Amino acid sequence: MSLRVVILASRDEALAHGSAQDALAVQALDTQLDALERALVELGHVPLRVEAEPDLARTAHTLLARRPELVFHCVESLEGDARGEALVADMLARLELACTGSPARALADALQKPRARALLEAGGVALPRGFVLEHEQGALPAWYGPGRYLVKPAHEDASHGIELESVVSTLGALRARVRHVCRTYAQPALVEEFIEGREFNVSLLGSGDGARVLPLAEIDFREFPAGQPRLVTYAAKWIESSAEYRGSPSVPAQDLEPQLESRIREAALRAYRALGLAGYGRVDLRLDAHGRPLVLDVNPNPDLSPDAGLARAAQREGLSYARLVDTILHDALERAPARAARG
Ligand SMILES: Nc1ncnc2c1ncn2[C@@H]1O[C@H](COP(=O)(O)OP(=O)(O)O)[C@@H](O)[C@H]1O
Ligand SMILES: [Mg+2]
Repeated sequence: MSLRVVILASRDEALAHGSAQDALAVQALDTQLDALERALVELGHVPLRVEAEPDLARTAHTLLARRPELVFHCVESLEGDARGEALVADMLARLELACTGSPARALADALQKPRARALLEAGGVALPRGFVLEHEQGALPAWYGPGRYLVKPAHEDASHGIELESVVSTLGALRARVRHVCRTYAQPALVEEFIEGREFNVSLLGSGDGARVLPLAEIDFREFPAGQPRLVTYAAKWIESSAEYRGSPSVPAQDLEPQLESRIREAALRAYRALGLAGYGRVDLRLDAHGRPLVLDVNPNPDLSPDAGLARAAQREGLSYARLVDTILHDALERAPARAARG
């Protein structure tokens, strides 16, 4: 079966807010789109690229003119605003087009960290304790006490606004960092207990009852700059020349007791379902002092490049990049509205 597959993406030069460096995250998309196109050709499909414009009516018009049988949803933002990815998924659903990845609702919920936390808690997923501050003088919860905390923007992803300085251990530093986050990112700050334990990235594929966990990856912090809090900062994720990047490779998880491994897999799957992810996704967790996995982040739209975590995890299960793309594509077709599913 050969399908006309539209690869829908947007090439924002910079994000609407945040630092200029944030544009680096956007450039990585190009590599991903080229690889995806090659994989689709290899699978016998006909890839067509369409640029998603902020004017969604125009985007819909361009898209429909191509008569796609499937849309590969690769839009990460519109005019630099990450909420665009959910708007695009919503548009595709209204057009009754088969579309890869998570539905609009999950994409939107995951981006609102406080909302995602509430949904995860309701789904029985263990999380670090946390609270939201709208401004630096905001009230602290009754349980607040001395310790290390991480201050992050409440509505960002891709490590935007996460730096070594995000980890604070005094109330003064906490409030100063909240001020910085609120000013730079024009949004509230989410403050979480800083969990010191091992960090795992869990990639998942499939939807509903068919969702499954791929082999686990772990961040290897052994070469991380000495004396610094260990976390995947913006530099660690995107700036290849930085010591933080070199000091935080994601590697296959090793030496995991089977019991611990199944607790991690179970927590990731529960989180994936609690937020209603579909198709593919990644859940980041850390172990607390008791070895209990706590979910830090649920990513419905992780990097699909051949060298990124999801593809590497799939590879370890024997799924080549093309087969991974094929799996995501078939998942989308199975969930597609009847009209679009007709070949
Ligand atoms: N509560 C926490 N305790 C310790 N480290 C954390 C915590 N939350 C996030 N981190 C670190 O910060 C990184 C990025 O945070 P995350 O919430 O995943 O943001 P993003 O959505 O931008 O990826 C994580 O990969 C992890 O290294
Ligand atoms: Mg993350």
